[in-house]
Amino acid sequence: MAKTGVAVIGCGDISGIYLKTLTQSADVEVRAVADLDAERASRRSSEFGVPAVDPREALGDPRVEVVVNLTVPSAHHQVALDALRAGKHVYNEKPLAVRPDQGWELLEVAKEHGLRVGAAPDTVLGAGVQTCRDLVDSGAIGTPVAAQAFMMCPGHEGWHPNPDFYYQPGGGPLFDMGPYYLSALVTLLGPVDRVVASARSAFSERTIGHGGRKGQPIPVETPTHIVAALDFASGPTVQLTTSFDVLHHTLPPIELYGSEGTLQVPDPNGFGGPIRLRRRGEDAWAEVPLARPYAENTRGLGVVDMVRAIREGRPHRASGALAQHVLETMQAALDSDRDGRRVTLPDGPQRPEPMPREAW
Ligand SMILES: NC(=O)c1ccc[n+]([C@@H]2O[C@H](COP(=O)([O-])OP(=O)(O)OC[C@H]3O[C@@H](n4cnc5c(N)ncnc54)[C@H](O)[C@@H]3O)[C@@H](O)[C@H]2O)c1
Repeated sequence: MAKTGVAVIGCGDISGIYLKTLTQSADVEVRAVADLDAERASRRSSEFGVPAVDPREALGDPRVEVVVNLTVPSAHHQVALDALRAGKHVYNEKPLAVRPDQGWELLEVAKEHGLRVGAAPDTVLGAGVQTCRDLVDSGAIGTPVAAQAFMMCPGHEGWHPNPDFYYQPGGGPLFDMGPYYLSALVTLLGPVDRVVASARSAFSERTIGHGGRKGQPIPVETPTHIVAALDFASGPTVQLTTSFDVLHHTLPPIELYGSEGTLQVPDPNGFGGPIRLRRRGEDAWAEVPLARPYAENTRGLGVVDMVRAIREGRPHRASGALAQHVLETMQAALDSDRDGRRVTLPDGPQRPEPMPREAW
């Protein structure tokens, strides 16, 4: 079968791993890379042997069926909207958009045009979270009752050469890293029903620590430490803390507590393990072997799944609907803090199908 034509728009830091996965896929042909900054596009073009074009040219190319949008969060909505209006399916990096109304618009426009919207993260399609899902679904911890999730770090200005977007609305630890944790939790437990949260920023300014702009200050315009309590529709209550204000800690990424045991879910910002399980009556933790493919960094896997799903006429897993639910959950946390109230979410989507046992 002919490969599906893809254009990558946004040739920054994360585009390298996507281009590696996509150029190696038997299902995809990368027909163009594009960026507002032509030099960045040209660098990826030479690295991966694909043509660099202007973003508008990519949208006008009839051989491009899917646009992979790896721009900064504040551009996700407009770039995706332009792609949909040009008749292309679109797959956004996370978050789907900066505001829930923008996400809804993308889903509506896609529906009108019979197009797909997909979105990162696809790490949750990897071996780690998919094996955990197997364990939960097969009753390894009994009935899930609660979870604790922690993503805490000092922020990204120490390593990212252009970290401004991490401290603007649509960034911050919740919108930046929350999608990994929330997508994993929704994969394991189903959708979120209600949210209450508390948020703050420890610092009003950050200093770039790396690259050509080293030493430049950047303003902090979004909360950088958010503690949220999430009630899942299936019953469990979950505490999620995301922070760019913490230097060191010893807390796990996700611990899931069930009536018959506890599961340590690996970092959902990665594809692999380790997974640890300790059941009622056991006096030690056991490491559980990974039982699904894709334990290595395979960012772009969600795009490949979407391309295959379009051909096979089935729902794709890293879907716009799931990303929209995650976006609404994150916004609900900030709204809850701002208004001092608990927020009830609209009904979330069904969990996507588990990944197959064999790699594609
Ligand atoms: N860097 C990471 O480790 C990482 C990891 C996972 C996800 N992400 C996500 O990937 C996305 C991109 O992150 P990054 O680190 O690669 O950022 P980056 O700043 O390195 O690259 C973004 C690129 O998008 C381009 N761009 C911005 N607006 C555009 C527009 N309207 N049209 C065309 N190009 C445009 C910029 O010129 C830039 O080259 C973000 O959503 C981020 O959350 C990044």
